[in-house]
This record gives sequence, C-alpha cells and structure tokens, in this order.
Amino acid sequence: MQDIRPSFDDYDEINSPRAEQTDIDRVIETAISRRGFLGGAMSFGLGSFLVGSTALNRRAAAQTQGARFDFAAVEATTADTVTLPEGYEWKMLVKWGDPLHPDAPEFDPETRGTVESQARAFGDNNDGMALFTRDGRHVFAINNEYTNLDILWGEMAEGEAPTDEQIRKSMMAHGLSVFEIVEGADGWEVKRDSDLNRRVTTDTEMDIAGPAAGHDLLRTSADPEGMMSLGTWNNCGNGRTPWGTYLACEENFNGYYSSSEERAEDAEDTRSEAFRRYGINYSDWGYGWARVDPRFDISAEPNEPNRNGYVVELDPFDPEARPVKRTALGRFKHENAELVINDDGRVVVYMGDDERGEFLYRYVSEGTWAEGQDGGDLLDKGQLYVAVFDPEMTGKWVALTPDATGMSAPEIAIHTRIAASRVGATTMDRPEWVAANPSKPELYVALTNNKNRGVKPNEGGDNQDVNGPNPREVNNYGQILRWTPDNGDHTADGFEWRLFALAGNPVLAEALEGVTDAEMAEPADPGLAVENVYPGSENVTAGNMFNSPDCLAFDTRGMLWILTDGNYSDEGPFEGMGNNQMLAGDTETGEIRRFMVGPRECELTGMQLSPDGKTMFVGVQHPGEDGNSNFPDGGLPRSGVVMITRTDGGVMG
Ligand code: FEO
Ligand code: CA
Ligand code: CA
Repeated sequence: MQDIRPSFDDYDEINSPRAEQTDIDRVIETAISRRGFLGGAMSFGLGSFLVGSTALNRRAAAQTQGARFDFAAVEATTADTVTLPEGYEWKMLVKWGDPLHPDAPEFDPETRGTVESQARAFGDNNDGMALFTRDGRHVFAINNEYTNLDILWGEMAEGEAPTDEQIRKSMMAHGLSVFEIVEGADGWEVKRDSDLNRRVTTDTEMDIAGPAAGHDLLRTSADPEGMMSLGTWNNCGNGRTPWGTYLACEENFNGYYSSSEERAEDAEDTRSEAFRRYGINYSDWGYGWARVDPRFDISAEPNEPNRNGYVVELDPFDPEARPVKRTALGRFKHENAELVINDDGRVVVYMGDDERGEFLYRYVSEGTWAEGQDGGDLLDKGQLYVAVFDPEMTGKWVALTPDATGMSAPEIAIHTRIAASRVGATTMDRPEWVAANPSKPELYVALTNNKNRGVKPNEGGDNQDVNGPNPREVNNYGQILRWTPDNGDHTADGFEWRLFALAGNPVLAEALEGVTDAEMAEPADPGLAVENVYPGSENVTAGNMFNSPDCLAFDTRGMLWILTDGNYSDEGPFEGMGNNQMLAGDTETGEIRRFMVGPRECELTGMQLSPDGKTMFVGVQHPGEDGNSNFPDGGLPRSGVVMITRTDGGVMG
C-alpha cells in the first residue's frame, strides 16, 4: 500500500486543529487521573463473575491486601536470562522440540528435528495457554503460534530454497500442544506417557460450526460442503470456558497463503476487497506451504483463507475430540477470547482484532449456561458486536446485524472486519489480550502500539485520527484501556471507559524537554522523532518503563499481570526499557511494578498458576529471533514455558 503519511507540518491541518487537540489533552488528563483509579463516575455492579472465579474469590478472600506487591521491583536489563526479584527462582517446564510421548526422539539441536519428530513434540513459539484440572489430573493446552524459520531450518545460504521436508516440519511446529503435567518432589514436569498428550497441527481435521458453516464462501475442492477444515495455525492468545474447553485464537493466518499466478510488477492488484482487508496476498511470509499443499494457493483454492481466522474450541481431556471452529465469534486476527458468564447465565466473549486500526468485539450468546452443563453450542448462536468509543469516556456496543451492515449473517461471520467498518466501529491501536477482573465487572485490553495512528487509515480506509482511547499519534509505546459495562451487565449496550496506563519513556521525555526535531538529525523513522517520545501516564516511572503491553492476565488476588511484546532495542525511544518484561499492576491504586525480565529478543506471553497458586507458568516466546540469544541452556535458542516459584515455598499469586 502506498504510504500516504503526511509531513509533520500537515498534521496540524489534518488531525489536530487546536480545539480538537485541547479536547484530547483533556481526555488523557481525565482518563488517567487518580479519580479514574478510585472509581470516579465508573459504576461497578456486583454478581457477575469470571470463569472459575468462585474458587478464585475464595482464595482471594483468604489472602491479605498486604500480600499484594510482595516483591522488590527488578531493574530493566538486557541480560540473556530470566531475571526475577530476590526470593524467586525459575526453571523450564517444556521447550520447543521436547518430545510429548515416551517413544518420541529427544530434540536434536543439530538437525532441529524432522517432520515426524516435530509432529510428536512440543511446538515452536508458544503463546497463549491454559491449565485444566479434572478428576485430579492437570492438562496444559498451549498455542504454538508460529516458527522462527532461521532457527527451525538453520542457516541457509543466500537464495537457497527450503526443502519440502523443511516446509512440512514448519507446519508440524505450528498448532497446539496438549499434555498432562504431574507434580513430583522437584516440581511440575511433563508426563510423557499420558494418554492425553496430543498435537494439533495443520493436518488435524476439525469441524466448522456457527453461521458460516456450509456457506458458499467456505466450500473448497477438498470440502464441497464447507463443513470441516484441516488444521489451525498462528494461534496467538487463548480463552477457556467454564465447561472445561480451550479456545485457541487464529491470528495472522493470512501470511501462509500465496498465489501460483504471480502478479507482474506493474500489473493491477486484482485481489478482492476481502483479500486486501485480511492481508491475503500474492506471496506468503516465507513459509512456502503452497508448495507442499496446494490448498494454500489462493489462485487454486480462493475460498481456503475463509476457513481461517476463527476461534477454535478444543476439549483437552479427550485426545480424540475434533476441534471446532466457532464462526459466530467472527473472523479476524483474533488475539484472545476472554469469556465471562453474565448474571443471567448468558455467555459473553470479549475479543480484540490485532492489526493497526482494527476493532474490539463482544459476543453475547442467545442461550444461557449453568454449572455442570456443556456449552459449545452457546458459541454458535448469539450476537456479535463491535465497540464504538466516544471522547466523553463512554461507549457503546453496536450489533453486527444484517440490517445494520447490509450483509447476511454468514457474510458477517466471514467478513467481520468489513461489517464492523460499515457500522462505524472505532479504530484501535492493535487490540491484544482482553482480561476480565475476576472480582467485578471490569475489563482491560492491551492496545499494544500503532505507528499508523494519525498517519494513515486502516486497510479498510477507516480513519485513524487520534480518538479517546487511542490518544497519541505515531504510538510507539501503547496503552492499557479499561471499561465497565453499564449496571455491571456484560450484555448492556453501554459502558464507561478509562485508561489504566499510557506507556512511555518519562526519562527520555524529560531529557528531550524543549528539544525540537529541527535540532535533532532528521529521523528516518517517524517513531524516533522527538515529538513521538511520550512520557506516559503518572503510574509509568523511571523504575517500571515498558512498551507494547500484549498479554494481560489476572491472578487470584486481583493483580493484573502485564506481559510485553515490544521493542527490545533498549535504544532511542526505548532506551532504558531493556528486554521484554512482565509487570504487576494494582488496578485499585494504579501502581505498576516490574516482576520479571525475559531473555534477549523474546516476548513474554501467557500466564497461568498451578491449582495451589505456588507455581506461576509464563511463556517465553521467540528468544533470539534476531540471532542474539542462547536461552535457555546456552545453545540453540528455544521458546518454552518457565515455572516460577518462591524460594520460601509460598503462594505466587
Ligand atoms: Fe500474536 Fe497480537 O500477538
Ligand atoms: Ca500477542
Ligand atoms: Ca506476539
């Protein structure tokens, strides 16, 4: 797409007439003021609960307020290891390539495994995860989002093409890993001989359910009925249901498709509006999957991409269970799926679409759920909504109905982004994870960053002028937004919102006070311009600076854990922030404290607690993605799940 970024001089005229700027300044001030933390005009209803919150609340009540922040903040660092406060220690639970069956081979760092070994081992680049307990057994379901091809394939000579075997191996490294864990004298470990261990990959058969099932747009030569598909990939964040299933969210599914009909350099782009909006392109992102499986060739199978971009439900306790794609939850670059049960029993799912200028969604089921029931079909019949924010700290959920969008129900489920644009949804700064406070009806979403805010529209042409919850042009750092549904009712049309934190670099901002771009060398990247270095909100300090909040997760005490996937250069606007990190946020006072720093070039993602609360599991994804890490054991960098415990054996969270 042509870069239509105006010059900085143009900004005033296009985006920031003085009155509007003043309004946004006022919004920021109100949004992050202390009043915001103390409740202000926000209404907190009672009675709604998050999945599993009954047990959580019991434990929360047993713990004292004084236990919050029971650690000394760690400093930012670029060390190639896991850094924790004194009194805490870590070790690995599982790493990319570790076998999940007793007769599967150990990982070979020389070959980096084979198609067969990878299909029976923990996948690459773990992201969202959930730990389930049933009948005394503990099972992890974990997303393996994507692969670092340089690492998976090893160094390849310039111009060298991957072999078919290498391509198939990357397919087997994607998907989901499901495995049982047991606690021994030395802590938790993978139970390799469990009958529950399985991988879900690009080859796993799954069903398609909900309004899009069977629609013409889902029919392919392999599946003329449009009712099933093979596999899931690029599963980013996740969700879990109170009926004991796992929700894997398909995010950047588009990057795996390519076209055998190449586009000449000067030829017109003849892709459909939908392909353009979803980033389905003539070439893939280097994976080469179409070479070994023609369904990834969009000129041969133009409907195949319509079968990805969904939330996939899986029963982790049934290794034979077919996963189900729940199309009623919409098709977009799903980050996670935060599910709550409303007071009246209806299932409500909050979801972000992680791309610059895309939207925040909510699903409300038609039927209701009660303890002990199965619920999968509650995710098939319901209403999808998209969020519209106003600068007065309120917002509303707009239903994506045929009347409102001029599209049929199956079309809304398949081309959700286009439907949402038609009702005037508010463009957001890349919505990542949504987390629901377990003790009250209150939601948080990480808006990770957006270099295009105030620069150019989203891929659908929707404007990305600064707006209430996305108040900064060329947003390098990101923010955390929170909202409360009217009357504590998750199905209400309206809500009130505030910002919990605006990330930033207060140290650099202060140092640059009064310095202008003209006095600096003209930066090639607008993100490096002086005017785009922001100090952040008051709760962002020299001691806790971070950028690009991504994963959000509450612990049993109501502490909000913030995990970052941002710029780890430790330079320029990010100077002093070090590697990606995990921080704890007190949602009552607004205080944020750094707890963990990950190894080099990783992101931290996914946080789960053991049932006794004494082990915290955290995902370390893509360490050394640019070749500068040997995490965790001094050799080939490998993603994995870290277990953190207190040296005194106490409860983690
Ligand atoms: Fe896979 Fe939006 O992070
Ligand atoms: Ca993420
Ligand atoms: Ca990520």
